[in-house]
Amino acid sequence: MKDIQLDPKRIPQHVAIIMDGNGRWAKKKGELRIFGHTNGVDSVREALTAAVEVGVQYLTLYAFSTENWNRPKEEIAALMDLLVQSIYNEIDELNSKGVKLETIGDVEILPKTCQNALIDAKKKTKYNKKITLILALSYSSRREIAHAIKKMTQEVVVGKLSSDSINEDLISSYLSTANYPDPELLIRTSGENRVSNFLMWQLAYTELYFTKILWPDFKKKNFFRAIYDYQKRERRFGKTSDQILNENV
Ligand code: IPE
Ligand code: IPE
Ligand code: MG
Repeated sequence: MKDIQLDPKRIPQHVAIIMDGNGRWAKKKGELRIFGHTNGVDSVREALTAAVEVGVQYLTLYAFSTENWNRPKEEIAALMDLLVQSIYNEIDELNSKGVKLETIGDVEILPKTCQNALIDAKKKTKYNKKITLILALSYSSRREIAHAIKKMTQEVVVGKLSSDSINEDLISSYLSTANYPDPELLIRTSGENRVSNFLMWQLAYTELYFTKILWPDFKKKNFFRAIYDYQKRERRFGKTSDQILNENV
C-alpha cells in the first residue's frame, strides 16, 4: 500500500527517468558494476508498476546513451546481454500489465541479439493500451535534433517541405518522440543534477526532480514521492502566480 496521497486529477501523463547510480551502488557493496545494473532491473519493474498503478500513460527510461558507448567494452557487452535477458524474462509480465514497448535512439546500431529481442517484444506488445514504456537506447538528444534538422533540410531541398512551415510543432514532429506528449516530470537518481543529453527539446517546461537515491534502491514509494513533489509545484509557463490561480477557479 502506498502511504502517499496523490491527487488522481494531477497525475503526469508522461514521466521520464534518468536511471543513474548503478555503478556506485555496486561499488559500495564491493561488487562489480554489472551487479548494479542487474539489480537496476528490479527498479525498472518497480517504477513501471508504480506508473501503471497511478495511471501514467508514458514512461521513458534512459537506459543507454550514445556517450555510454565510450565505457569499457566488457561493461557494454554485459549491459547488452542484460537487456536481451530482461526483455525475454519480462515479456509475459509486460503483456499481462498491458505495457506497450517502444524505443527511441539509434537502435539499429545495437548488437543483432538486442535488435531481435526488441523487435519481438515490440511486436508482441503492440496492441497493449495501459501504458507505453519507451526505452531510450543509444540515445542522444543533440543527435536526435541534428537528425531532424537534416531530414527537414533534405525535404526543403526537394520541395517536399516549405521552409516557411518550420515551427516548433513541426520540429517536434521530426523527433523520435513525435508520437508522445512532452514529459511533465523528469526524475534523475544518484544525486547528479544534470540532463546528460536526454530529451533536451522535450524537457523545455518539464518539472525536474533530483534524488540522491541510487537507481537500484529506487522503489515504488520513491516514484510516488516524486509525483507527490510534482503535484505540489505550480506550473506557470511564464505567467504569474495570480494568473494561474484565477485560471483554476
Ligand atoms: C546508470 O548507472 C546506468 C547506465 C548509464 C547504463 P551508471 O552505470 O551510470 O552508474 P554510476 O553513475 O557509475 O554510479
Ligand atoms: C546517463 O547516465 C545515461 C543513462 C542513465 C543511460 P550517465 O551515468 O551515463 O551520465 P553522466 O555521464 O554521469 O552524465
Ligand atoms: Mg552514471
